Amino acid sequence: MAYRLTMVGTGYLGATTSACMAELGFEVLSLDVDAEKVRRLQAGDLPIYEPGLEEILRRNLANGRLRFTTSYEEAAAFGDVHFLCLGTPQKPGEYAADVSYLESAIESLAPHLNRECLIVGKSTVPVGTAQHLADKLARLAPIGSGAELAWNPEFLREGFAVKDTLHPDRIVLGVASDRAEKIMREVYASMIEAGTPMVITDYPTAELVKVAANAFLATKISFINAMAEVCEAAHADVKQLSLALSFDDRIGGRYLNPGLGFGGGCLPKDIRAFMARAGELGADQALTFLREVDAINMRRRARMVDLARELAGGSFQGCTLAVLGAAFKPNSDDIRDSPALDVAVKIGQQGGQVTIYDPVAQENARRAHPELSYGSSALEAARDAHVVLLLTEWQEFIDLDPEQLGTVVAARKIVDGRNALDAETWRAAGWHYRALGRP
Ligand code: UDX
Repeated sequence: MAYRLTMVGTGYLGATTSACMAELGFEVLSLDVDAEKVRRLQAGDLPIYEPGLEEILRRNLANGRLRFTTSYEEAAAFGDVHFLCLGTPQKPGEYAADVSYLESAIESLAPHLNRECLIVGKSTVPVGTAQHLADKLARLAPIGSGAELAWNPEFLREGFAVKDTLHPDRIVLGVASDRAEKIMREVYASMIEAGTPMVITDYPTAELVKVAANAFLATKISFINAMAEVCEAAHADVKQLSLALSFDDRIGGRYLNPGLGFGGGCLPKDIRAFMARAGELGADQALTFLREVDAINMRRRARMVDLARELAGGSFQGCTLAVLGAAFKPNSDDIRDSPALDVAVKIGQQGGQVTIYDPVAQENARRAHPELSYGSSALEAARDAHVVLLLTEWQEFIDLDPEQLGTVVAARKIVDGRNALDAETWRAAGWHYRALGRP
């Protein structure tokens, strides 16, 4: 049977999943309570930067497989499978995640459910949320047990969202019945046929897989950044250390790039929410190491500010600095918890004259921090700077020619916050080159 799918929430996850599932041939209706967002998406205007996604969105709007709405009633009448793609942000002033968007989605959708359907949660949630939502669904849905819940965490990375959605590493599914499993096997049939491994489990395990994966990745990044701290103290080179570690395939080289550390809308908040939830469950001791993972990560930003100040001659007063990069990582316009922007703001607060350039996240950064200056290119941002800071490793920054940049930066001082440049090339061109974790 060709199921009809609805997506509830059209943020990063919802917009990507909507377009990609339509691309796979499903009829998709996507809902958001934000009418302006719905209008833009229906017009083929993607509010986020994600390589390849807008093309897929437009193609599937044009062929009629994808539509957008603000009506829960319409979504309930349309869908056989309703995906919940809502955000779970960190609660202000706390570590815990706010699941209220999921709660209100169920409260708005469930009373309209008069036909058999499956609700599939994709959001990253504190363990126990799925069962809580399933209980709520059972109370509110007129169809009763005909509306069921499954949990199917999403692992997509920004910048690779289309590839990760269409060709996931694995499918994890928490179900409470064979019926739910059968429906999901049909929904993901093309991926299963392509050999994608599938783990069928219960709700809490499925919920935990996602936060455990993010905790592991965050730990790996902080591990190499802790080694960078030791390397600095010992005058050793963390980049060569990381390279040598990567040849051990038990360790592997991915997520082992030392630098300014992790940011974004997921890793930082997910490890904090994980600690908060473990605390509620009486298992906080098991995750105390994540506190250290978080602390190591935040120390990288402070170290970057210190290194910049050192190159500025001991004080930022009267110093102009070019910041290359504002996004939390390359190939993204996302500035949520961006290490680059955090460093730029801190230097500005300490009296430095900061000019930022980011090829894609520039406008988002400007809106969030109008107090800082912005250049229209790397060269323009760097003109007459005393120090250049590379904080997000966009390819165009890696490709910068030290000679050409040197024509506008007489001081020729650069800090490579992402260990992305070739130190020898820059030094040979007369630059004072510094990087985190290297002599
Ligand atoms: C992450 C997970 O990878 C993804 O599976 C999950 O669904 C959501 O969270 P994302 O936030 O898009 O995805 O970014 P990711 O590519 O994982 O990078 C996270 C941060 O870690 C970035 O700030 C990046 O610059 C940093 N990072 C990554 C490092 O500092 N070093 C590395 O070696 C790798």
